[in-house]
Amino acid sequence: MQLSFFILSSLACLAAATPIEKRHLSAWPSPVRTYFSALSSRLAAIRDITPKTLPTCTFTSAVLPNSSLPAPSPGLIPWHIAVGRGTQNYTCDTSTPQAAPKPAGAVATLYNTSCLAAINPYMLSLVPAAALSVSAPLPGKGLFPTQSILSGHHFFSDLTTATFNLHTERANYGITFNKKIANVTAPATNAGDVPNKGPDGSKPVPWLKLQTQTPNGNVAPSDDLGGVKEVYRVNTAGGAAPSTCVNMPATFEVQYAAEYWFYGTA
Ligand SMILES: *[C@@H]1O[C@H](CO)[C@@H](O)[C@H](O)[C@H]1NC(C)=O
Ligand SMILES: *[C@@H]1O[C@H](CO)[C@@H](O)[C@H](O)[C@H]1NC(C)=O
Ligand SMILES: *[C@@H]1O[C@H](CO)[C@@H](O)[C@H](O)[C@H]1NC(C)=O
Ligand SMILES: *[C@@H]1O[C@H](CO)[C@@H](O)[C@H](O)[C@H]1NC(C)=O
Repeated sequence: MQLSFFILSSLACLAAATPIEKRHLSAWPSPVRTYFSALSSRLAAIRDITPKTLPTCTFTSAVLPNSSLPAPSPGLIPWHIAVGRGTQNYTCDTSTPQAAPKPAGAVATLYNTSCLAAINPYMLSLVPAAALSVSAPLPGKGLFPTQSILSGHHFFSDLTTATFNLHTERANYGITFNKKIANVTAPATNAGDVPNKGPDGSKPVPWLKLQTQTPNGNVAPSDDLGGVKEVYRVNTAGGAAPSTCVNMPATFEVQYAAEYWFYGTA
């Protein structure tokens, strides 16, 4: 495909806006080339929704990527859609190297991709692998390659409680505590044909459905806004552990990225 002037200038612009060096187009990792090739044919629609400030759009009718996970509960609508970029953590008992690594939580930064989800979910499905193929954004920088801005932080408040804190300097959208209620093996590719292994060769982590829980001790923090009821992790890229602990240290991290879809009451 002939890449247009706009694509090359947006590449240059993105390179300048992020800690990522300028490269000849062919030198970018293939998920990044796939993203910009797809962008070239959709530029008019996409260009307006990836600025450095938040765009305006209606995303409550955005459609979750297909999978065999249970559908969102009746009455819930998309409340926020983010791409998370971070690490999955694991532990190994080094005395039993043939055993599988055990999950030990995850830490990710969330970037607001709500408008992209609404306007072009296919483009969004390219983002996790593209974001994972380059180093994570420095603090204060947008997500490569969409320039999506920070919307929150994902971490585990205990081994099984996935926490999403959407309180940033810009706005307070609350905090939610979630338990896994369903999981499915990630498909071999995203959106039909988009490679979703990490640059380290790691397979994509499973797709999940999470449900919000009352936090430990039944005491909600003051900024638990309660709007979010269910959270999905889909279109995952990388992050899975090797199948055994052979040659692995007692604790390690695997880089990953994924779409997170938050469902809530309007
Ligand atoms: C995400 O972006 C949308 C559209 O610009 C905005 O309305 C919403 O407030 C943002 N959400 C968060 C959690 O930052
Ligand atoms: C998702 O599923 C719906 C309903 O089964 C189907 O109409 C649609 O084509 C599917 N979309 C994709 C991208 O597979
Ligand atoms: C997981 O990795 C993050 C990022 O390096 C680190 O801060 C955190 O302590 C690790 N968590 C566990 C449970 O090892
Ligand atoms: C789903 O979760 C269960 C329980 O945590 C686990 O045993 C199983 O391996 C997981 N399956 C997939 C596909 O992730």
